[in-house]
Amino acid sequence: MLERIIAIHFSPTGGTRRAALLLAGGIAKQVEEIDLTLPQVQEKSFGPQDVVLVAGPVYGGRLPALMTERLRRLTGGGARAVSAAVYGGRAYEDALVELDDLLEAQGFAVAAAAALLAEHSIVRKLAAGRPDAQDEAQLAAFGARIAEKLGRGEKSAPQTPGNRPYRDWAGMPVTPAANDACTGCGTCAKSCPAQAIDPADPRQTDEARCITCMRCVAVCPAQARALPAQVQGMLGQKLAPFMEKRPENELYL
Ligand SMILES: Cc1cc2nc3c(=O)[nH]c(=O)nc-3n(C[C@H](O)[C@H](O)[C@H](O)COP(=O)(O)O)c2cc1C
Repeated sequence: MLERIIAIHFSPTGGTRRAALLLAGGIAKQVEEIDLTLPQVQEKSFGPQDVVLVAGPVYGGRLPALMTERLRRLTGGGARAVSAAVYGGRAYEDALVELDDLLEAQGFAVAAAAALLAEHSIVRKLAAGRPDAQDEAQLAAFGARIAEKLGRGEKSAPQTPGNRPYRDWAGMPVTPAANDACTGCGTCAKSCPAQAIDPADPRQTDEARCITCMRCVAVCPAQARALPAQVQGMLGQKLAPFMEKRPENELYL
């Protein structure tokens, strides 16, 4: 096991962070965190002595553009990196290779890549409850294998699956809306990674800024925010076939 790893994550509803911390906990004794959902993420440079784990959620088979934008504030300087694309049980497509390419471009040396499962943040019945106890054991074992590779000083890059050019994904053309239960408390506006909600009137969402990450829905103390029921129903139907079997976490070394 390594001494220390820095877990850098973009996790609007917490699933990506949970999976990342389970993996990181198998790699190193001490885990520090950098939260890329914070708009004020500072520029930071790493060096060859550092090991980072960078984890992002899969949106439409890609990484959220807001995450890639913030990740560009970090410079690797030869730091070794583990990448993780965390998806909700449909598919991760080009998100993992996109993350590896970006990390390499920022000066990190990617030594391992993982595709991990977490509950689907829109269609909660998909990959429900994941990461679960079985994932916990598997991610600890993945972590041990990664630590072993890093401990040997082996520098080979993983054969990460995915296509270049990456698939197109323009985002979802809908935003969560508040209903009459909204008290105007502003919790959603404060925690919105995209600063898309008006703090003075949280019923107003800037559609051009919103990335449909579901953070506002997850944090609302009055459960007053949701995607339109019609959109929820349509997505539930589209994703129903993926509920039939349990997708497994994958590790590329
Ligand atoms: C806008 C959006 C698009 C998504 N697209 C996909 C996808 O293409 N494939 C998939 O399996 N899961 C998809 N998901 C589910 C998330 O990847 C998954 O739930 C992830 O763990 C969410 O991370 P978080 O809990 O850290 O917010 C999507 C979720 C959102 C909000």
